[in-house]
Parts: sequence; structure tokens; C-alpha cells
Amino acid sequence: MTVLRLYPAPQQKIPLKGLYLSLSLHRQAESGEVFIYANFIASLDGRISLLDAHGEQGVPASLANKRDWRLYQELAAQSDIMLTSARYFRQLARGNAQDLLPVGREADYADLAAWRLNEGLTVQPDVAILSRSLDIPQAALEKVQDRRVLVLTGADAPQSQVDRLTQQGLAVLRSEAQELDGPAIRRLLAGEGYRSAYMIAGPEVHRTLLDGGLDMLFLTQRHRLLGGDDFRSIMQGNLARPVDMQLRSLYLDEQACLDERGGQSFASYAVLPQG
Ligand SMILES: NC(=O)c1ccc[n+]([C@@H]2O[C@H](COP(=O)([O-])OP(=O)(O)OC[C@H]3O[C@@H](n4cnc5c(N)ncnc54)[C@H](OP(=O)(O)O)[C@@H]3O)[C@@H](O)[C@H]2O)c1
Repeated sequence: MTVLRLYPAPQQKIPLKGLYLSLSLHRQAESGEVFIYANFIASLDGRISLLDAHGEQGVPASLANKRDWRLYQELAAQSDIMLTSARYFRQLARGNAQDLLPVGREADYADLAAWRLNEGLTVQPDVAILSRSLDIPQAALEKVQDRRVLVLTGADAPQSQVDRLTQQGLAVLRSEAQELDGPAIRRLLAGEGYRSAYMIAGPEVHRTLLDGGLDMLFLTQRHRLLGGDDFRSIMQGNLARPVDMQLRSLYLDEQACLDERGGQSFASYAVLPQG
């Protein structure tokens, strides 16, 4: 299974397996810092999720596919910790979300579990949950009992909820400011010794990180338009100023073009510091 590298030149066929694993994202952080990266799959008309049959937002089956999932897993394999949202945990507790957090549990990804151990990483990445409400159901937390779970929140998060989560064995970390922002997330994660963090949440957590808390964006574009008015895109809300990104790599998934009409492209971007 190969993809065609379009950028940087020269064009070249490259195996899909190992494409992102070769990036060594777990070794990119400067001393005492954390390297934070995000990943999305979107349709050509910018949908990352649509309203599903349960009336919940979810990644539509017409968007998700196994080749992109391989890359999702390779990115997860390189992380010390995965950043997600309390909203995702609430969906998980209702049984309406895909279990995204384990790395390499299926046979196809067993190589990634072995790779982590070889690289001196833990069996599974830890989990950080971003939340203002601290409404994180116990039922969903049981799915990540094998890992350290952090909750990242703002300075004035309700103390009763902090106590409840702490009693359940979670570490609740507050930012100094009322609202958690990108630099605070960096400080909190680096303070805990994490060197690589993989953001798998949606548009709101992405917007939070884009304010000084993101180093790299991976974006799969499925060459398909989905339509639908009730959708999420990769970023929603206001940015203080535009965020510039520099293309690092672009691959055409030719195999997908043959097997599934249209195909997809895999892009990665470095987030440029604010000018
Ligand atoms: N196609 C893709 O690649 C892709 C990738 C990721 C997600 N998705 C889809 O996108 C949809 C939305 O995902 P999501 O709900 O995880 O995304 P989200 O919109 O990023 O998460 C929102 C929640 O995160 C917490 N949050 C966000 N910013 C925060 C901040 N600055 N401080 C503290 N808490 C903060 C809040 O939790 P509280 O409400 O508890 O305060 C908020 O409700 C889902 O349908 C998901 O399936 C698609």
C-alpha cells in the first residue's frame, strides 16, 4: 500500500505504513517543553462531523476509512498523552462515540504497540481531558483506568467537581487565568514531564490550542463533498488573529483513488509563531 508524495519534491511512491511514524514526534520538543500536534479528517466541503441517527455529532462513516485510521494510530503511537474533551467523554458514556483512545489494540496496529515499548514509551499514552464544566461521567472514565488521566481546566472551575474527580484518582490541573489557553496547556503538560501531546478533540479545543498551544496540524482531506447544515469544521469560534501554517508534506492516497472513488490527500502543516 503506497501513497504518492507530492510535496516536498521530487514526487515519489512511499509506503503508507510508517509514513507518519518516521516523524519521531515524541522527540521534537525542546528541553523542558512539549510538542503538541492535532489531526483531523475532513470532507472537501469542510465537514469533520455531522448529526447522526442518535441526534449527536459524530464522524460520518462516509468520511472515515482504514488508510486514514492507520495514520491516526501512527500519530497516537508517538504521543505521551492524548488531549481530548469532556464532551467526548460524555458521548462515550452514552455509548455514542467511537473508542478512540487505545493505541494498537487491533491486530493491524500491533506493530505500533511494540514500537512504543521499543522507544521507551508507556504501553498506552496518558489522557488529558479539557473541560470547563468538569462534567465527566464515571462510566466513561472506567475505559481509561489503565492510564493516568489529567483534567485541564480554568482557575474558577467548581471546587466540588474538582474534589469529586480527585477522589476518583484523576489529577485536576487549573490554569492561572480564568480561561484555559494554549500557553497554559503547554505549561501544565510540560510541568508534568510530557514531551509529546496528540490532540484528538474537535473544533473548540483546536481553537484553544491555536492560541499559542499548537505546533503541527495533520489534515486528511477526503475528496468528497458531504453537505448537511448541522456540522462541525476543524475550527469554530473566534481567533484573536489569523494563524499561519506552512505546508510540510502532502501525499496523494492513490490506492484510495483506485479502490474508492475520489480518494484522499494527507497534508501536514507547521503552525507558524505569531508575527
Ligand atoms: N473528523 C475528525 O477528524 C474529528 C476529530 C475530532 C473530533 N471530531 C468530531 O467533532 C465533534 C466535536 O468534538 P468534541 O466535542 O471533542 O470537540 P470540542 O468542540 O473541541 O470540545 C468541546 C468541549 O471541550 C471542552 N473545552 C473546549 N475548550 C476548552 C477550554 N478552553 N477550556 C476548558 N474546556 C474546554 C468543553 O468541555 P465542557 O463542556 O465540559 O466544559 C467543551 O464542551 C464530535 O462529533 C467529534 O466526533 C471529528
